[in-house]
Amino acid sequence: MIETDVLIVGSGPAGSATALALSTYGIRNMVVTKYRWLADTPRAHITNQRTMEVLRDLGIEDEVNQKRAHQDLMGNNVFCTSLAGEEIGRLYSWGNHPNRMADYTLASPTTICDVPQNLMEPILLSNAAARGSRVRFDTEYLSLAQDADGVTATVRDRLSGHDYQIRAKYLVGADGGRSQVAEDIGLPMQGRMGVAGSMNIVFEADLSRYVAHRPSVLYWVLQPGANIGGIGMGLVRMVRPWTEWLIVWGYDINQPPPEMSDALAIEVARNLIGDQTIPIKVKSHSLWTVNHLFALSNTAGRVFCMGDAVHRHPPSNGLGSNTSIQDAFNLAWKLAYVLQGKADPSLLASYDAERSPIARQIVERANKSIEEFGPIFDSLGLLSTSDPEQMKRNMEARKDATPQAAAQREKLRKAIAHKSYEFNCHGVEMNQRYRSAAIVPDGTDEPDWARDRELYHHPTTWPGARLPHLWLERNGRRLSTLDVCGHGRFTVLTGIGGEAWVAAAQAIAAEHGLEIDAHVIGPGRELTDVFGDWAEMRETAETGCVLVRPDHHVGFRAQAVSASAHADLEAAVLAILGRA
Ligand code: FDA
Repeated sequence: MIETDVLIVGSGPAGSATALALSTYGIRNMVVTKYRWLADTPRAHITNQRTMEVLRDLGIEDEVNQKRAHQDLMGNNVFCTSLAGEEIGRLYSWGNHPNRMADYTLASPTTICDVPQNLMEPILLSNAAARGSRVRFDTEYLSLAQDADGVTATVRDRLSGHDYQIRAKYLVGADGGRSQVAEDIGLPMQGRMGVAGSMNIVFEADLSRYVAHRPSVLYWVLQPGANIGGIGMGLVRMVRPWTEWLIVWGYDINQPPPEMSDALAIEVARNLIGDQTIPIKVKSHSLWTVNHLFALSNTAGRVFCMGDAVHRHPPSNGLGSNTSIQDAFNLAWKLAYVLQGKADPSLLASYDAERSPIARQIVERANKSIEEFGPIFDSLGLLSTSDPEQMKRNMEARKDATPQAAAQREKLRKAIAHKSYEFNCHGVEMNQRYRSAAIVPDGTDEPDWARDRELYHHPTTWPGARLPHLWLERNGRRLSTLDVCGHGRFTVLTGIGGEAWVAAAQAIAAEHGLEIDAHVIGPGRELTDVFGDWAEMRETAETGCVLVRPDHHVGFRAQAVSASAHADLEAAVLAILGRA
């Protein structure tokens, strides 16, 4: 029988990122995936800063950046009647408003960007394979059985039709929105699938003349009748500026799905572009549904599910592949530590405790973002009638010089501005705070959300939060606090006078067979806080300690050094690893 340590089902963002992280940490793993290759359509694009931090940690940020559309090409969210037609309104998006740019710049050493999924997946998986992952394409997962020592999966070689078994110590179900693994282990799900119907049309057309002056990744087209199903209106989505596009168009889920054809795809595309003569080369079309479903728990025994298998939602806020990659980063180091004998298997329970609340949060956020288009339709008078001619008159009415029209304009302006909860939702992307047995509380209350918690990033070293990013310097070269941490290791950060934490970290690492990096930050030391930002942000005294887990989340902190520094740090490390 074929054997591995971790069997990963699926090679989407979740599965490929898990393979990459495990191979980076030196863990034997194998990916089985149903089709002959990776995503063949662009699908997810928005790659948020937290995901870019994960990719930076795993050493592939530069490679991803070579394929990205930069943040400044993502800047305008355009609402229009067609690309060639009238513009209804615009919203700065993805941190491009001058008054949001600083929030994004301050939050991370990385930049939010746009990378089509069919370009991202090969980077993830090829690096995983280069670092040791075994990858089996055309291999379909059929079933699993688990016992006290491992999991036996039955898979089918789709080329020969031959079924065989793979034995692993753990199995990761990253098999997407129709996850067989999640079903087989009976994960409890809440919500429903098939809330609305959508079609994707991928095509090539040079639309520069309609878009280059208002660069964006998303152009929302409000045409009377377009609010059926799906995301409620037509969406022309940039794949590559400005020649490749993805259209998302709704259909009524209560009716039989439309018969897709190139002719229908071209008709929909030309209507949304507003140019009946523009040359269009259709690359693909497919149907999908808007889902509102999340798993209440993502784990059963030795099987862990992640990605769309446990959070199924529309593309709003661009959270799908981002959350999938972040799930992988949370689980991979835990699997590695358990398999390497550095942690007790109980550490693995923290994956459920930490990631399941996030699954719920992002599914609800993404679906709420769809509802929040409602006030835009309402302000344009698209909801009060089903007559397309009346809809057009209602939209035109906002141009009148009347108090009613002024009120309508104001309503529309506010409704568009509110869409920052989809397009500038920095807090949802960056504020994940974990509560689990793998976080040691320090007795302080959770810091308040000084600003809106969904819109704004709130950096803190409160245990459970992601370590805030700040620029430090080493030998004249700047590096982020996040660069100093992660890479599969625990890290202790302290300041001048906190040397006892460093000594404790070294002794604990040696005694318990762990790797714990420890750094004193201060003048004349290896790392300098040239801007004084760390002193401002660390929320401890200079002699305090911040213990950062391999996934950049703070696991423990102490306000100041004390006689019990060694004992406190040791207790914290062992508690996080389930070895207390
Ligand atoms: P995914 O579905 O990607 O992968 C599942 C894998 O499992 C595949 O490799 C499949 O072949 C394999 N598989 C399935 N069954 C199997 C079996 N029985 N045996 C073996 N292998 C099996 N997200 C985002 O973050 N930003 C964005 O901008 C967007 N935009 C977007 C637009 C559109 C139109 C869509 C439809 C979706 C998005 N998303 C998104 C969502 C994103 O595409 C989605 O969340 C991720 O692909 C989920 O990644 P997973 O790895 O979990 O599943």
